Amino acid sequence: MKFDGLDKNRLPRHVAIIMDGNGRWAKLRGKSRIEGHRRGKTSVRVIVELSRKIGIRFLSLYAFSTENWLRPHDEVDALMGLLQHYLIAEQAKMMRYGIRLLAVGDRSRLPQSVRRTLEQVIEATRNNGRMTVVLALSYSGRDEIVRMARQIARAARENRLDPETIDERMISAQMDSPEVPDPDLLIRTSGEMRISNFYLWQIAYSELYVTPTLWPDFREQEYLQALIDFQRRRRRFGRTDEQLVDTAPSVLEAGGSES
Ligand code: FPP
Repeated sequence: MKFDGLDKNRLPRHVAIIMDGNGRWAKLRGKSRIEGHRRGKTSVRVIVELSRKIGIRFLSLYAFSTENWLRPHDEVDALMGLLQHYLIAEQAKMMRYGIRLLAVGDRSRLPQSVRRTLEQVIEATRNNGRMTVVLALSYSGRDEIVRMARQIARAARENRLDPETIDERMISAQMDSPEVPDPDLLIRTSGEMRISNFYLWQIAYSELYVTPTLWPDFREQEYLQALIDFQRRRRRFGRTDEQLVDTAPSVLEAGGSES
């Protein structure tokens, strides 16, 4: 596949995606919501594959929020089943292509079999260095911040930490995946203008891209369109346009590969 219009030297280092619209996709076709999720799983495969080919280093996928536990049992079970199936089916490919898997969220709530499979794939792929896929599972941004605050408070209580030394870097280091840089680009499918509790701390300077396309229909062309749109943006990180000209690119690139 040709990547016409895409500048390989200005790719976002980290793309995060809120995959929304599986239910609506199914409803429009008179199918079950689960059928929509099944089709959404294919989009996951396609987007991971294309990210790898293009050279995206980090890809985060919001696969299951803490709020999603409130959905009907059969839908939750089906989503867990799809997830497990995906992990088992894709492990060999992850090894072949040097893809490392990470997960963010409260793993303790996942069914034991899913958790075991997840941890096994994370362990098997830990030394893969070409690309990192981060699955957000049983995840919410506020929950992650609460868990981070507890850890820091515990360290302060035990005199391992002086509260005056707390800074942004320390907070980032206490999040679920400290080794992952903040997203440069956050994509949301199905047209909703919401963050829905995803990566609240990490998206401070992310570029947002919302498309009306439903997740099961979000495939190569749509993804390329989002990346091309990102490359047209001028990221200022709170500075003025004039300052951008004078500032060393390394400073501006702190959160990504922006020119
Ligand atoms: C949102 O659609 C999507 C989800 C809640 C789950 C995303 C899951 C997948 C894409 C399938 C499996 C995942 C992996 C990682 C293999 P929605 O149900 O909220 O759609 P709606 O808003 O139209 O109802």
